[in-house]
Amino acid sequence: MARRKKIYEGKAKILYEGTEPGTLVQYFKDDATAFNAEKKATIEGKGVLNNRLSEFFMTGLTQIGVPNHFIKRINMREQLIRAVEIVPLEVIVRNFAAGSMAKRLGLEEGTPLPRPIVEFSYKDDALGDPLVPEEYIIAFGWATQQDMDDIVALALRVNDFMSGIMYGVGIKLIDFKIEIGRIFEGDFMRLIVADEISPDSCRLWDMKTGQKLDKDVFRRDLGNLTDAYTEVARRLGVMPNNVSPATKPTLIN
Ligand code: TMP
Repeated sequence: MARRKKIYEGKAKILYEGTEPGTLVQYFKDDATAFNAEKKATIEGKGVLNNRLSEFFMTGLTQIGVPNHFIKRINMREQLIRAVEIVPLEVIVRNFAAGSMAKRLGLEEGTPLPRPIVEFSYKDDALGDPLVPEEYIIAFGWATQQDMDDIVALALRVNDFMSGIMYGVGIKLIDFKIEIGRIFEGDFMRLIVADEISPDSCRLWDMKTGQKLDKDVFRRDLGNLTDAYTEVARRLGVMPNNVSPATKPTLIN
């Protein structure tokens, strides 16, 4: 079989050309990074779990009418997705203060916010993905005002869906990040949810104990990341085969 063309390699995923025009194959690596790749490790089984979990969330979003890039799972680590033009923003929705917001405002992590807050970072690793106001986004032409209205509406629908799904399995959705892509259909452009939705890009706390079940386990050295993601998958009834729960991270840097 001919070697597939690699289109893009990021920190946690690789994109290959797809089987049909307008599609890509998204491969989930076991690599984990934090703090703009200052901290790195390979965590056995993470890619398999995120492939299944992203499939689960994106399929649910499709079922409630939230457009997204997911087409179908191909194998343990790969899924077929729609090729999109990524809007260069990290769209973050927060329900409770945590992470960079807690730090910036001196709030205790877990403080409920008066309403969901949507914020944007400009996707640029060299700059460390700086937080940007909507005014910058529009002035620099990364998105139009209409795009931003659509993006906020999409982000809030994803938030309601994800909060509800997680509530049902005893998990509090603290915050999450999504990315948005453009697809072109004739003269029309549509914005859809792209990239991935997984515990790599959410904060998930056990409702009773407050135990962290997301990438903060890796960022803050709180235990075994595969165990945490496996617990999320188990509660949601998404159990990939062949993931040994007790694998230890191998430090590669
Ligand atoms: P933050 O509190 O560090 O700004 O993170 C907010 C949310 O965004 C949190 O759920 C983790 C997620 N996130 C990413 O997915 N990628 C990133 O590079 C960062 C910094 C955060």
